Amino acid sequence: MRSDTGQIFRLEDYRASDYLIPQTQLTFQLSPENTLVVAELTIERRDGVAKNAPLVLDGDELTLKSIRIDGAPLSPSQYEATPDKLTIRKPPAAKKFVVSMETELNPSKNEKLMGLYRSSNVYCTQCEAEGFRRITYFLDRPDILSVYTVRIEAERSEAPLLLANGNPGETGDLANGRHYAVWEDPFPKPSYLFALVAGDLGRVGDVFVTESGRTVELGIYVEHGKEARAAYAMDALKRSMKWDEEKFGREYDLDVFNIVAVSDFNMGAMENKGLNLFNDKYVLADDETATDADFANIEAIIAHEYFHNWTGNRITCRDWFQLCLKEGLTVFRDHEFSADQRSRAVKRIAEVRTLKAHQFPEDQGPLAHPVRPRRYREINNFYTATVYEKGSEVVRMIRTILGEESFRAGMDLYFERHDGDAATIEDFLRVFEDVSGRDLSQFALWYHQAGTPNLSVASSYNATAAEFTLEIEQSVPPTPSESRKRLMHIPVAFGLVGPDGKDIAYSRVEGATVEGDIIHVRKRRHSVRFSGVSSRPAVSLNRGFSAPITLAIEQKPEGHYFLARHDSDLFSRWQSLNTLLTDELITAFRKCRGGKATNYPAELSALACDIAADEELEPAYRALALTLPGEADVAREIGTNIDPDCIFEAREALTRSIALANESRFGDLFRRLHNKGEFSPDAASAGRRALRNVLLDYLSVASGDPTFAEKEFAGATNMTDRAAALTILAHRFPGSPQALSALAAFEKRFRSDALVLDKWFQIQATVPGKNAVVTVGALMEHPAFSLTNPNRVRALVGTFATANQTGFHRADGAGYSLFADTVLAVEKRNPQIAARLATALRSWRSLEPVRQAKARETLLSIAAADNLSADLRDIVERTLA
Ligand code: PHE
Ligand code: ZN
Repeated sequence: MRSDTGQIFRLEDYRASDYLIPQTQLTFQLSPENTLVVAELTIERRDGVAKNAPLVLDGDELTLKSIRIDGAPLSPSQYEATPDKLTIRKPPAAKKFVVSMETELNPSKNEKLMGLYRSSNVYCTQCEAEGFRRITYFLDRPDILSVYTVRIEAERSEAPLLLANGNPGETGDLANGRHYAVWEDPFPKPSYLFALVAGDLGRVGDVFVTESGRTVELGIYVEHGKEARAAYAMDALKRSMKWDEEKFGREYDLDVFNIVAVSDFNMGAMENKGLNLFNDKYVLADDETATDADFANIEAIIAHEYFHNWTGNRITCRDWFQLCLKEGLTVFRDHEFSADQRSRAVKRIAEVRTLKAHQFPEDQGPLAHPVRPRRYREINNFYTATVYEKGSEVVRMIRTILGEESFRAGMDLYFERHDGDAATIEDFLRVFEDVSGRDLSQFALWYHQAGTPNLSVASSYNATAAEFTLEIEQSVPPTPSESRKRLMHIPVAFGLVGPDGKDIAYSRVEGATVEGDIIHVRKRRHSVRFSGVSSRPAVSLNRGFSAPITLAIEQKPEGHYFLARHDSDLFSRWQSLNTLLTDELITAFRKCRGGKATNYPAELSALACDIAADEELEPAYRALALTLPGEADVAREIGTNIDPDCIFEAREALTRSIALANESRFGDLFRRLHNKGEFSPDAASAGRRALRNVLLDYLSVASGDPTFAEKEFAGATNMTDRAAALTILAHRFPGSPQALSALAAFEKRFRSDALVLDKWFQIQATVPGKNAVVTVGALMEHPAFSLTNPNRVRALVGTFATANQTGFHRADGAGYSLFADTVLAVEKRNPQIAARLATALRSWRSLEPVRQAKARETLLSIAAADNLSADLRDIVERTLA
């Protein structure tokens, strides 16, 4: 394990490298336990650097077999090689020289899944962020761009398929049943984008003809026999390629584009140039095995990785502090893609739900950091919701501020100006300033300052003067190491909604810059006065979630009810409904804490019913509207002294109240939404399934009868419906004969399909209540479970710790003990996955005192373990700080 040096990396310490590596030639002699890597690096001294300045290359757990410079072997006094560093004390004075090295690797033993490893007998690599240094010594930093030629040699029977980045070159046979293939990538790239795959895989092929008429060979490689399950991914890839041409003018640049699905993968997928590697979960799908959510994820992630070709690969990051330059921007691009392919409002609601569920708690807890951090101990821990999701929101705000056209001009300039560069956030912001003439210096704080800004808003109406006034005050709560915050530039989309639901006109506005439907909040306080307002409007604020903030509006429930029914902006209608539901849940929570029962207003059930039945609205939207805020959402809104059992009770009571009030109408609706006919994964069909399954849940609750879901489970013709029915049985009727037999039937049917079994793990890991910890413990002994496979760990233990509030936060701490044991067991194999898992306790300070003390003890016990990895130590120490 890489030991924790405790070293902290700081943005202000960035310094260009003394040496560059214009050319890299690699030869891999692959063998499961003993792979030889021959690297020939053409090294060039950068202008202005002293001759003979020492050359220090990065390594990680490497063994050097030999080293030469310009063909001549080095004597031991000329260099020093440790597992994590190679120092050449006095390199040649020549401007350019060639360093040749041999390193020896054991891919079968590489359980960290970084560098070169084997997954189900397939050799593959993962180099972002610092995995390339586990293959050979290198200047393993993103501002070192090199042109790679790669030769792969392997036994033909074991690895008939040999892939690397770029375009295919020569292939041929070698002695002893071995063969080779050469790949050349003409585009200079940083080492984190290097990739290699070798193995025996099935191929799905297609072609894409680019805008300018070039034909690109597309290949998706999967386990033999699973080719049909790659069809949807291929379709998504072609749509992505087309979309990037149409929306951003970006054409693909190599002759081939390959995607390989692997079953052991730390993250979702990786954008290696011309050779994307995917967690197989985000490639494989058909109606039998994948849910609609899986299809949507595949579409989004295929697009995301493809879009990186321009935002990430052609223009990369100068250093890892700039990670959001590629990630935030690429998430924004994939969001827009999905919005165009599906329903914009539904997509936006889903995005905001994700943002609030993952990024808000991060920003509001001990792990808060700016979108562009200034320091890190372990970069792997910065692939966060803040960098990705908030990073995307920041790009969205730039578009909101500039407008569609100017934003596109800025993007065009970015591609033109920085193609081939390792760029920074300053470079990115500058193009938008240049095309628009706007000053984005205050706006830039969104990159530099952590924390979720809050706007508190009060309104008043003066009928005689026909004036409507908004009092807006901004604040940014303190975050670790940033106690004092500066004022932000917050673009707030708004509308003044009149009694008929239409936005009403006003003649004049004073007190803030208002451009079109955007209020630019820049100061601490704005008093925004609209004149010529003929009747008291309801104010619809932060439409489309134009800024990632929290809002405290002084608005009576009547106002929210009105907007939930009448706002012309669909997103805002959902937002108003969500506020009503959340407020009621919080009230009920407080009553529960005080030992009192609750009843919910009939008006709320009626509103839910009307939205459910509104045929003008898409089914997917109606399904979302009927989905109550999650337990974690409510906990986040309450903020302190959380007792998950009371939140659960409040939420259960609300579900029951809505279900009972609407039983007959929900029944009618449900019956009309039949699910016959051929399966199609398109958004409209998925929306109908979603609505039908939400209704099924309410009907099951209202009747208390598992036979509805039992029947649906038995008759299901696709995984979406099957998994939904199974969830209802397992969660609403735990331990019932119907639940037990459905769980058993599911296991029997999908026993040999690990990805499908993950759903079975997930469903059981999220059964509310105190028994879940026992269930999860038992399932860890299941033959399909494995501590070395990230998907299995996430599906069972990750889901338990993040999505089972009552089970994980059991008052006696049993959930935490299981969690700590697992984190430490996983850490021995894969520190990255362990560190990620450990973030599940980041909100421990918001728990009530008993649980809080137990959670703290748990974190301390992890911190006290011997030989903690840098990854886990970093998370645990920051969480406790
Ligand atoms: N760069 C990948 C993506 O977002 C994520 C990733 C990071 C994958 C690190 C592997 C390792 O598209
Ligand atoms: Zn990405």
